[in-house]
Amino acid sequence: PTPVIIDCDTGVDDALALLFAVRHPGLELRAVTCVAGNADVDQVVRNTLTVLEQAGAPQVPVARGAERPLLEPVRTAHHVHGRDGMGDLGLPAPGRRPADVDAVTLLRREILAAPRPVTLIPTAPLTNIALLLRTHPEVTRNIERIVFMGGAVATGNATAVAEFNVWHDPEAAAILLTAGVPITMYGLDVFQRVIVPADDVRRLRASGEPGAVLAGRLLAHRDPVTGEEDPPGGLGDAGAVCAVADPAGLTTELLPVEVNLAPGPARGQTVVDRRPRPGEAELHGEAREQPLVDVALDVDVERYVKLYLATVER
Ligand code: BDR
Ligand code: CA
Repeated sequence: PTPVIIDCDTGVDDALALLFAVRHPGLELRAVTCVAGNADVDQVVRNTLTVLEQAGAPQVPVARGAERPLLEPVRTAHHVHGRDGMGDLGLPAPGRRPADVDAVTLLRREILAAPRPVTLIPTAPLTNIALLLRTHPEVTRNIERIVFMGGAVATGNATAVAEFNVWHDPEAAAILLTAGVPITMYGLDVFQRVIVPADDVRRLRASGEPGAVLAGRLLAHRDPVTGEEDPPGGLGDAGAVCAVADPAGLTTELLPVEVNLAPGPARGQTVVDRRPRPGEAELHGEAREQPLVDVALDVDVERYVKLYLATVER
């Protein structure tokens, strides 16, 4: 199996991602690191430990990471993820504590100790990853690829043009994009499209198997915007893990991407250059070379929904 590490801010859809990673036979979840985002980092740690227990994977090491972004203050998303940051499902408190090392230390240790290059899957603001890359740049020699949920080509959610994870810590995202490792950006353009139909969500909830029931309850987490009672459920961050397990379901293009770091209404936007190349940028005398990122442009929705259901219902 592919060794993977998830860096998350659990998070309704981060929880869906963890459930999938634990159960997919082609993935070996070596560690999970936590960062402030949807909720404060201590709540994220508790949520993560609880989800792994419910998923039957209490042995996966979990570490607490950054409690705030590099420059920005913490800006949680309880309006989306509930008071407990995970849909207020009344889940039990975890029965164990996180590792006694911090996230950056655990990331370094697990990456360098892995028998094969690791795929890192950040589904949260990129603070931990930026700190890792700056503190221990040698880790890149055992990183296969970083597949992150964040950014967007053509839309935003935190603001009109910025996606939450990048907006929350734009400097950290910029550090990631210039790290010199292969990167896939699983952005809002695909993220928002992978929806599990209401019938399937109902079936999961009624299945009686704890992990599958939890996935169903998370998917049914009432959308605070539509307020729908028996809703279909977005896979959200879990789609990025599907993309690692089954890359053929994602259409990507290698494109220059830059994070807008300027103060103002576009701060945190991922500026994706889709002009025909080569030549356009040079033609206009643009001096700077932007890093190339595999940007997700299309997704096989049915394929990922099927894959997700088959995996958590295993
Ligand atoms: C991202 O922000 C969080 O609310 C979700 O968990 C996801 O990682 C979407 O913008
Ligand atoms: Ca997340």
